[in-house]
Amino acid sequence: MQENKKAETLRLLREAEDNISGQYLCEHFGISRTAIWKIMNQLKEEGYEIEAVQNRGYRLVGQPDLLGKDELESRMSTNLIGRCVYYKKEIDSTNTWAKRLAEEGVPDGTLVVADTQNAGKGRRGRSWNSPEGTSISMTLLLYPDLEPAKAPMLTIVMGLSVVQGIRNALGVDTKIKWPNDAVLNGRKLCGILTEMSAQIDFINYVVIGTGINVNQEEFPEEIRDIATSLLIETGRRVNRAGIIAAVMEAFEKNYEAFKKTGDLSAMQKDYEEVLVNKNQQVRVLDPKEPFEGVALGITATGELRVQKEDGTIREIHSGEVSVRGLYSYV
Ligand code: BTN
Repeated sequence: MQENKKAETLRLLREAEDNISGQYLCEHFGISRTAIWKIMNQLKEEGYEIEAVQNRGYRLVGQPDLLGKDELESRMSTNLIGRCVYYKKEIDSTNTWAKRLAEEGVPDGTLVVADTQNAGKGRRGRSWNSPEGTSISMTLLLYPDLEPAKAPMLTIVMGLSVVQGIRNALGVDTKIKWPNDAVLNGRKLCGILTEMSAQIDFINYVVIGTGINVNQEEFPEEIRDIATSLLIETGRRVNRAGIIAAVMEAFEKNYEAFKKTGDLSAMQKDYEEVLVNKNQQVRVLDPKEPFEGVALGITATGELRVQKEDGTIREIHSGEVSVRGLYSYV
């Protein structure tokens, strides 16, 4: 992959404990002082505050919550997942864009990010709200060597990775409402929409679209009761790129484990530890036969195990039904 000098400069500036000298950067990249100066100016134009002190070099002043290809690439610590980033300030839907890019043949693990979506898609044909400057809208593109029937498990892998990424980046413990909504204090923080293009026995590509509510101060009236953001729950305004990189790192680890076994067995324990429904009474909204029971956990393939009052255990597939708490969304 061609080196992104702007991203690498950002990484070096962020990780440096002191100023970085122009001389060091020249030698690091094998380019001239003028070229370094140009990179710094471009970064400043993008909104970074970079201080240049004579004889001491450059220093990044503060960490603004900027999204962008350079910012994201500068934070990635993965091998494949999220190494190639496409970014736009505004797009219809990152899922739709990722599908267009898949048709063009961009690499496996490509991450598509937008600051805002004007036609964001939710599950079951609903729309998804992605306000500019405060939310995360991202889609990961994969070309997995997998039977199409196994693709829904990737949504669960991403759900767990979101919870782990948020914990690693911020130290905030969120939970999962089966199958894959990340929740905090009973309200929804993140939704995932996975779509795929497949033949009967072969997946052309899968796009896993993730929306995370980060720095929103409030929500539209219609969703105020069920939606929340990290800012609302923790009182902290946080850096979105840091969360994205941490989610990609967690996903890469989990995806490796998933590829080894072809199921979720390696993640089952971690998943059940954060499953908000575990040992809780749930209502299974099966259109044919709704019922109530206690959620016990998941199977190695991601079905929710629910014990009915008569003691029998049902395994619920995520595509077919929704599950609610008895008195609220969770
Ligand atoms: C849900 O209904 O819970 C799923 C919401 C998924 C939203 C994300 S935001 C990024 C990606 N692009 C979309 O259009 N949708 C997903």
